[in-house]
Amino acid sequence: MPHDINNIVILTGAGISAESGLATFRGPDGLWEGHRVEDVCTPEALRRDRALVHRFYDERRAKLAEVQPNAAHEAIAALDRAWAGELLIVTQNVDDLHERAGARRLLHMHGELKSALCAACDKAVRWDGPMPPGSVCDGCGKPALRPDIVFFGEMPYEMDHIDEALKRADLFVSIGTSGAVYPAAGFVQIARYSGARTIELNLEPSAGSGYFDESLRGPASVLAPRLVRKLLA
Ligand code: OAD
Repeated sequence: MPHDINNIVILTGAGISAESGLATFRGPDGLWEGHRVEDVCTPEALRRDRALVHRFYDERRAKLAEVQPNAAHEAIAALDRAWAGELLIVTQNVDDLHERAGARRLLHMHGELKSALCAACDKAVRWDGPMPPGSVCDGCGKPALRPDIVFFGEMPYEMDHIDEALKRADLFVSIGTSGAVYPAAGFVQIARYSGARTIELNLEPSAGSGYFDESLRGPASVLAPRLVRKLLA
């Protein structure tokens, strides 16, 4: 690894949590855990069938208790602890496996299962267990809490912060994401045009593989620890 790397941005997707036992989104049948995307992950779905959307995310939240961070999450957390330069870990995942492995410099750009968002006043609160429709916000008192998930058509979190980090990055690493969903799919281009070295770790080529200087094939649990060892050598 070149010695002139100081600022690192790591983007992770569902593939990094696959070996922990969490399903990825774009399976061969095109369904997410048996549901069509439009039925569970859009503002329209929430208006049409609030109970279904809450139940879907209740199930995902409950599943977190059955899974553990894997070697890829552990490696990134170790990098976070040891890296003296700038580091930003941006995850599209709504699970909590990065933080349970110990990662601190972390942003959840698509929201978090363990957070509730008030649709009336925008206050977010930590949440565990089921979230029945009509749960009351302790900020404004309205029965307007919903899963704190960025639905299709909504703006991902912290985009300004991420954009600044991408423009300063010397190294951009993308792990276990299909490159099918923007704006995250475009991060590699921003980093690359700003002069960063770009590396992809994935089981198979992603939609944006052509933008990476290096595209490495294999499981994240093997490739991520290898990359971190090189960075810290
Ligand atoms: P996808 O399900 O689209 O892609 C998962 C990627 O991980 C694929 O490219 C797989 O090849 C790769 N993969 C699977 N197992 C792997 C392993 N063990 N090691 C390395 N790579 C592996 O998931 P995302 O790209 O994360 O948004 O999906 C992006 C967004 O689409 C999600 O954040 C979600 C969805 O809409 C929201 O929920 C808001």
